[in-house]
Amino acid sequence: QDPRTQAIASTIRVVPNFPKPGIMFQDITTLLLNPPVFKDTIDLFVERYTGKGISVVAGVEARGFIFGPPIALAIGAKFIPLRKPNKLPGEVMSKEYELEYGADCLEMHVGAVQPGERALVVDDLVATGGTLCAAIVLLERAGAEVVECACVIELPELKGRERLNGKPLYILVESHS
Ligand code: PRP
Ligand code: MG
Repeated sequence: QDPRTQAIASTIRVVPNFPKPGIMFQDITTLLLNPPVFKDTIDLFVERYTGKGISVVAGVEARGFIFGPPIALAIGAKFIPLRKPNKLPGEVMSKEYELEYGADCLEMHVGAVQPGERALVVDDLVATGGTLCAAIVLLERAGAEVVECACVIELPELKGRERLNGKPLYILVESHS
């Protein structure tokens, strides 16, 4: 494992009982306050994805918008925002996904990605995997090939990986409850 991941793990603040009792919230805003560690985080992804023929980085609202764009710029890919409902002004594709309570939805602009493009999905954290699963569905519906999903943190106990239908998931830090 890369020695830089230890500092990344130690700058993520864990906030107990947020946003509700029993949840240990993984707060990446404290990582962002440390420029060398934020840079190492982006660099680790850039080193992995440079030269892999990836032309699209898709980031999931909201926290995927923090990590996705710097990766896209560094590897020379375009950035596509996958947004919560009714935020994108153009024609959209939508995918609903399950939450612990109820459902949410992600939307992507039609025409943002062309069939055959190689895409990377970026978010901060994978918990149940529902969010990444919806992102993969949208990109594949548009004909893109999802090469991998990349997140800073995984909560492995929630088995989010198993919902990705075999799609590779790359993470920097594991958080055990
Ligand atoms: C959090 C997190 C991931 C998602 C992971 O986002 O940023 O996107 O949950 O959960 P899952 O693997 O169970 O789908 P959230 O929807 O809370 O919103 P935010 O990014 O807009 O803060
Ligand atoms: Mg999110």
